[in-house]
Amino acid sequence: MRILILGHGAREHAIAKRLAQSDYQPEMYAFMGSVNPGLARLCRDFRLGSLSDVGEIVSYAREDRIDLVVPGQELPLIAGVVDALQLAGIPVIGPTRGLARLEGDKSYLRALMSRCAPNAMPRYRLCISETELLAAADELDAVAIKPLGLTGGKGVKVTERSLRDDDEALSYALEVIQHDGRILIEECLQGEEFSLMAFSDGARLVSMPLVQDFKLACKGDSGPMTGGMGAYSCADHLLPFVVETERVAAADVLWRIVAAAQEENGALYRGFIYGQFMLTADGPKVIEINARLGDPEAMNVMHLLNGDLVDISHQMLTRLEGTIPFSPIATVVKYLVPKGYPSSPEVDRRISVDETTIAERGGELFYASVRFDGQAVYTTGSRALAVLCTAATVADAAALVEGIVQDIEPEHLYHRSDIASASMLAEKVAHMERLRSS
Ligand code: AMP
Ligand code: GLY
Repeated sequence: MRILILGHGAREHAIAKRLAQSDYQPEMYAFMGSVNPGLARLCRDFRLGSLSDVGEIVSYAREDRIDLVVPGQELPLIAGVVDALQLAGIPVIGPTRGLARLEGDKSYLRALMSRCAPNAMPRYRLCISETELLAAADELDAVAIKPLGLTGGKGVKVTERSLRDDDEALSYALEVIQHDGRILIEECLQGEEFSLMAFSDGARLVSMPLVQDFKLACKGDSGPMTGGMGAYSCADHLLPFVVETERVAAADVLWRIVAAAQEENGALYRGFIYGQFMLTADGPKVIEINARLGDPEAMNVMHLLNGDLVDISHQMLTRLEGTIPFSPIATVVKYLVPKGYPSSPEVDRRISVDETTIAERGGELFYASVRFDGQAVYTTGSRALAVLCTAATVADAAALVEGIVQDIEPEHLYHRSDIASASMLAEKVAHMERLRSS
């Protein structure tokens, strides 16, 4: 069996490791934008190209007589790779282009949700001019300013006060309107965020353990927005501030969205789906929907997955059977990023990675965006490496990761030392308690 994975990040490295461990002993192939040395090593062959070049991806899959394509990244999904592969008769997991609009077009998601899950979303306005922006500012207090399309997780700006009093935010919103013609202005939700990912066969969803992702660059959840600096999950597959009824409510909202999108598109959603939620005092609300696994969250859930991912992929294309087992342990993953990331990253710094020592200390290493010259790896403008550890508790797993990442190229790379620490988790629980009782 030959499996082709699309993408070159740590998420794709994690998915490919899982696929490669299958009892089917698949031969792995990859189509990447740049060489991920960890993923390349798992593969019999790989090709470099643009991840939105659907034609090139289909011809590579044809040439290599691929039996299953697994897109990890959103770009090919939004460009319509699933539709094109289906036409070519090549099995692929993932939503069609129309269904991938759930991620690729934030105004589509909000319009759909107004019909199928109106209580699980913030109030919002779609604005095309300064007049409309100011009208939205009068209606909503603090807001999230959101370009409609893909921004790699870095395009959203959240204000602490009204747009009328925030010149910087207002001019950012105007810039986006000038460029894209429209912008989404949403009520800023107060709460704690969590990621609920699931497998979908078009008839139902099977949920994965909940994960909390840390998007801001600096300690104490401050600094600029990034693609994600790390994530954790708990042994009971909930989060310290989420109870089971809230998880069930979020899963129900996710399914309502998938079902409504399927009906509108006349197509089944077969693949990974990822709901990013804000748990508010009024229950879980959708921040965004992604048509793929999260990054870094994929590393947490792929590590925990006990089933055979090739079997599960086939089931997503036919019918998901029963439940899918995940290990009852806690996971913590932290990214190592170039100093200065995301605004002015130090690029082309040589990084030495001692894979043996990381493994001996109980860490699982994932490569992300690095330049590999065949011998050494160098920083690019993006996240470089990730390390994951497991333990009975989140705090123990975090301490293990911290012990490892502190020693990896501290001159050129940094990480967030506070992610998943016991004090940070306690703060999150206290924050939710305050919101619930106010
Ligand atoms: P997104 O790219 O939609 O995931 O947004 C990036 C980040 O912006 C999210 O992880 C949230 O932290 C924040 N965000 C987006 N929308 C909202 C909202 N309506 N209220 C509060 N925070 C938001
Ligand atoms: N963890 C954020 C994302 O994958 O979009």
